Amino acid sequence: MFNLIIFGPPGSGKGTQSVKIAEKFKLKHVSTGDILREEVKNQTDLGLKVHRMMERGELVPDELLIQILYSVMKNNKHVSGFIFDGFPRTIIQAKALDTLMQQLKSEIFRVISLDVSDKEVIARLLRRAEIEGRKDDNLETINKRLVIYKNQTSPLLDFYHTQNKLIKIKGKGSVEDIFNLIILKLDKCIY
Ligand code: AP5
Repeated sequence: MFNLIIFGPPGSGKGTQSVKIAEKFKLKHVSTGDILREEVKNQTDLGLKVHRMMERGELVPDELLIQILYSVMKNNKHVSGFIFDGFPRTIIQAKALDTLMQQLKSEIFRVISLDVSDKEVIARLLRRAEIEGRKDDNLETINKRLVIYKNQTSPLLDFYHTQNKLIKIKGKGSVEDIFNLIILKLDKCIY
């Protein structure tokens, strides 16, 4: 299996780049944000539990995310690999993912970290708010999501750096240029 994580602050382009990377390497794209939004839309028990947290820009509890991860893996036993987008977001989630990978006799190959300034991500997300109307894309919630990213999620950069898995990418520029850079750096690790 070939497994990747895409990492970065809200609005850094994780979803946009994941779709392209998944297509290129024939990977299953796992976006925990998309999974949760679908649950909210369908008003499932999980959706009802999490919708307020998501609207406020807070992290959903680790145990719920880990359950989601287990069911995604159970239902996708025959894929050639995964790209995880928006997961893990805490050390607890990262350790749960490692355990699961070990059970599958696999591992995370690389973690692609998109580096984009706060100013740029705020501009992108406010633009998206006008087009898509995502409830967590307003200035107050975006700022909260950025603080949570810095405090709770960015420590994972060290976690993966010490495992020699981190690939840092400048995430500003055209979508195509950033994608090409990711592929160039991944290719160097593969070949
Ligand atoms: P999630 O959906 O993961 O939100 P996020 O991390 O805030 O990321 P976004 O989807 O906002 O941005 P992105 O980095 O994917 O960028 P995108 O490609 O979309 O999570 C939402 C919520 O769910 C969380 O707040 C939390 O409540 C909960 N949650 C999810 N996972 C969780 C977990 N593991 N643990 C706990 N809670 C969890 O691009 C953004 C915009 O920019 C788009 O409009 C795009 O078109 C545009 N864009 C992309 N690339 C470029 C570019 N190069 N130049 C200009 N614009 C660009």
